[in-house]
Amino acid sequence: MDHEREAELIAAAYAAAEHAYAPYSDYPVGAALLFDDGAVITGCNVENASYGLALCAETVAVAKALAEGRRGGLVAVAVVGLKADKEPITPCGRCRQVLNEVAALGSTNPLVLCVSKDDVRRVALSALLPHAFGPGHLG
Ligand code: THU
Repeated sequence: MDHEREAELIAAAYAAAEHAYAPYSDYPVGAALLFDDGAVITGCNVENASYGLALCAETVAVAKALAEGRRGGLVAVAVVGLKADKEPITPCGRCRQVLNEVAALGSTNPLVLCVSKDDVRRVALSALLPHAFGPGHLG
């Protein structure tokens, strides 16, 4: 992915983070999914007064993509945290599994851009979630 496309995807994730509903953690997160037709679908974290029901930004973005009928074609993901100053934020374990579902549907191995204020860590989803369980296991 060229530098310009990468910067656009990260910018989309930052814009999504502005809509984060994170009054309990005060840790706004944004995610942007890039598909092979150029479409970008974003999400932010959505928390709840019942704390354990929080939805991560990546999960919200994947749910939006599936709800719009997408079934694969995921080529890249950007994840940003408005408070991720030093260490780049990386998708939580559950989100890795959720991202894997869309990736597996289209047999892609998306590049995950893990972003902090001064750094971008580029890592393949297969490296974040080796030996993933996916739809193929179910027959
Ligand atoms: N969060 C995400 O949205 N994505 C991640 O991958 C890590 C954590 C959210 C969940 C919660 O709303 C807040 O960050 C603090 O954990």
